[in-house]
Amino acid sequence: MSEFECSSSDLLEFIELAKKLSGNNLISKKEIVKNKIAHFAKNKNIDNMQTLCNKFNFDRALRQELLNLITINETYFMRELNQLNSAIQYANTLSIGGGNVKILCAPCSSGEEVYSLGILAKSIGMDRYRLKITGIDINSNMIQKCKDGIYNERSVKNLKASQKELYFKKIEPDYQIRQELMPMIEFKTINIFDDSLFALGQFDIILSRNMMIYFDESYRVLTIERFAKILKPYGRIYFGSADLVPYCDLYSKIIDLSGTYYEKV
Ligand SMILES: C[S@@+](CC[C@H](N)C(=O)[O-])C[C@H]1O[C@@H](n2cnc3c(N)ncnc32)[C@H](O)[C@@H]1O
Repeated sequence: MSEFECSSSDLLEFIELAKKLSGNNLISKKEIVKNKIAHFAKNKNIDNMQTLCNKFNFDRALRQELLNLITINETYFMRELNQLNSAIQYANTLSIGGGNVKILCAPCSSGEEVYSLGILAKSIGMDRYRLKITGIDINSNMIQKCKDGIYNERSVKNLKASQKELYFKKIEPDYQIRQELMPMIEFKTINIFDDSLFALGQFDIILSRNMMIYFDESYRVLTIERFAKILKPYGRIYFGSADLVPYCDLYSKIIDLSGTYYEKV
């Protein structure tokens, strides 16, 4: 196996390319990134950064593997519960008017956010055929985890015992979500900076929580502009409380005790 050579400027070139392709700014984690990609390149018999960056740019399969390697996928059930409740209450109001409601979780990581919404919708008796939740993430391994729906104890720590009992099958030592109780749910591997985002259609509600924390201002602006294109008029978007949301005249900010959100104007 060949040694992988990586100078500081090589590493910066990789970090710049990762940002261009995914929005993620890895500069604060550059030592971790360096170790990860050195190990990766060695396994692929790639011995220099130019080859690695070329493949990152033009080889789709290898690009996906690298994106899977560099993204941070921390998530758990019922994270920032107030916002989830607010989103589902709003979805319920829209569905009572007779409509079908579409929610997008972008990003969904391993799926806990999507299934949390499903559990909350079911708990308030929302008609499961009137709600469709789409989860997307750039990381294809995470999307596979979403589809498998198997979670460890740490991931379900915020769920009540009754919720674990009702909505999961115990497969020791883990928990598997009972998909048949959930609303209509789909998961797709999508980079929000790819045009495949626009093929998803229009949504009533978007949750985009804890992704922009990894982006620079210019990518945060791009993100919220892209979401505006797939949000229905007066649709709502929820960001995570740690996300820095840039000013944008496409939305008005609604500060609500049950969860701050942005409404498309
Ligand atoms: C920390 S997780 C947040 C998951 C969930 N929304 C939550 O708040 O618990 C961030 C996710 O953003 C995804 N991500 C990063 N860049 C992305 C992009 N350009 N397009 C889609 N997903 C992206 C990562 O793969 C990761 O799973």
